[in-house]
Amino acid sequence: MALPSLLVLYGSQTGTAQDTAQRIGRQAQRKHIQNRVAPLDGYNVAHLISESLVIFVCSTTGQGDPPDNMKNFWRFLFRKSLPAGSLCQLDCAVLGLGDSSYPKFNFVAKKLHKRLQQLGASLLSPVGLADDQHDLGADAVIDPWLASFWDRASALYPSMNTVTPLPEDQPLPPRYTFHFLEGVGETSGDTERNSREQRVPSESHPFPARMTSNQRVSHPSHFQEVRLIEFDISDSNIEFTAGDVVSMRPCNNPEDVEQFCQQLRLDPDSQFILKANDSTAAPAGLPEPCSLRHLVEGYLGVAAVPRRSFFETLQCFSTNELEKEKLAEFSSAEGQDELHAYCSRPRRTALEVLCDFPHTTAELKVDYLLDLFPPIQPRSFSIASSPLAHPGKLQILVAVVGYKTQIQKPRRGLCSAWLSSLDPSQGEVRVPLWVKKGTLRFPADQDTPVIMVGPGTGVAPFRSALQERIAQGKAANVLFFGCRSQFKDFYFSAEWRDRVEEGQLKLFTAFSRDQEDKIYVQHRVKEQSKLLWDLIANRNAYFYIAGAAKDMPASVCDALKATFQLEGGLSLEESDQMLVAMEKAGRFQSETWS
Ligand code: 2AM
Repeated sequence: MALPSLLVLYGSQTGTAQDTAQRIGRQAQRKHIQNRVAPLDGYNVAHLISESLVIFVCSTTGQGDPPDNMKNFWRFLFRKSLPAGSLCQLDCAVLGLGDSSYPKFNFVAKKLHKRLQQLGASLLSPVGLADDQHDLGADAVIDPWLASFWDRASALYPSMNTVTPLPEDQPLPPRYTFHFLEGVGETSGDTERNSREQRVPSESHPFPARMTSNQRVSHPSHFQEVRLIEFDISDSNIEFTAGDVVSMRPCNNPEDVEQFCQQLRLDPDSQFILKANDSTAAPAGLPEPCSLRHLVEGYLGVAAVPRRSFFETLQCFSTNELEKEKLAEFSSAEGQDELHAYCSRPRRTALEVLCDFPHTTAELKVDYLLDLFPPIQPRSFSIASSPLAHPGKLQILVAVVGYKTQIQKPRRGLCSAWLSSLDPSQGEVRVPLWVKKGTLRFPADQDTPVIMVGPGTGVAPFRSALQERIAQGKAANVLFFGCRSQFKDFYFSAEWRDRVEEGQLKLFTAFSRDQEDKIYVQHRVKEQSKLLWDLIANRNAYFYIAGAAKDMPASVCDALKATFQLEGGLSLEESDQMLVAMEKAGRFQSETWS
């Protein structure tokens, strides 16, 4: 029997499932197995009935939702009209990537596994449930799961046992070849902009929005820099409502780009055209020809914390014994603890790793750049404005992330640091962006009240909702806002004051550090138990929480349940049930992030 051909399909939100899928593809390649790796929505699912061996690698996001790049597949797969035995020729396996600190741990993978069984597919392995919370990282589950998958596959295809795999330290052919050009100017992307006119902007075709303002809204003396940034999106075909989210891909900072090019001895101004060596499509959004500077600045994730696969590829280039040994350790299953301590914990960037391995770095070949560095991941922000109040505009509220680790140089969030550095008063600034539906939904009914709890930048989607609702004449709005001090980070205070004066908003503030004892939004929720019970029990109000995760959402839920007990006379159990019922009816919604 011939060797099988393997298809690896992934649904990935932050790139981890994609990285794992590509790693499985490389393992297959070392076993001389023909393979394709593709996002689920980039694959024509009608072809699934003619595949023989497939691995699905899927993460779970939000409240048990599939990642964006498998949403169409998800809808298709759960069509009632699909006949029960339609996938009976298929041997497959499902590997889930999740986080057990969320209630719907690996929900997507579990559901997919069941559905494939229902459709008649043979599941070669039990569903793999990788867990970010595992002490040794997700690979602690992935490695043994994969080893067992390959065993089962080779029992099915005994010919797999007769070929000798390529050694781990032999480089596989690169996915792309760079063809360098002499004296060609870079295309500006304007032609793309024109041909884009009728399209709704998306990740592969973002809209280059002009930044119209970028202003700090936290007091200059406050430790945290928070900015309100506005973009002009007129003529973009972008439409959004309250609760929607805008995404963009940040750029690396120019010093990192220079340093990277120096380390790899690359001329940033040289121009190239990419030729794909397998069925992979060219990376979306790169001009043709493209300069190395543009590639490094806008596409390669050199400032991200590298994953294990980076070390796997890097070790293939190393001829320096010491460096090679270390890289091999970081690539191995046994070395994951050490890799975590070296890289993930101190948030060491790929660029910093290259500095630690200078001999290997000097030997890197340009053709491997796209194998080594995953694309910069897009970042998403809750939209903080409504087109009904700011036509043709889109605003976001951005906290500039800065933190210290054991590495001397302070760490900064790539996207927020990049956004804060852009100054539209110094010349035109354009940021390619696109909008997605968010998870928060607001009631259409004119009289239904909304209660919103949004401390810090969690207030962003609620500002959008308030602007929208007030423009629509919906006046039953309650907002709980929390920050450290009314003098330092009480953003939009004047705006809220006006709304309160006009009778369109009830506002309750919790300034945690303006007095000795901490006052948080959950304390204010408890204090307002009478009002809240009346709105929820008698007027069918919707209740929302948004903001940085940790303990805030749980504490607010506790405060809400205490309200049900105090004012409604419910038992603890009944108050739990009431919250669950509200959630099922869409009347309790939360959007939290870490
Ligand atoms: P703190 O920093 O003084 O502890 C926005 O970040 C606001 O949320 C700040 O006032 C912050 O207070 C507060 N905050 C921090 N932890 C919280 C928690 N567990 N519950 C509610 N609010 C919290």
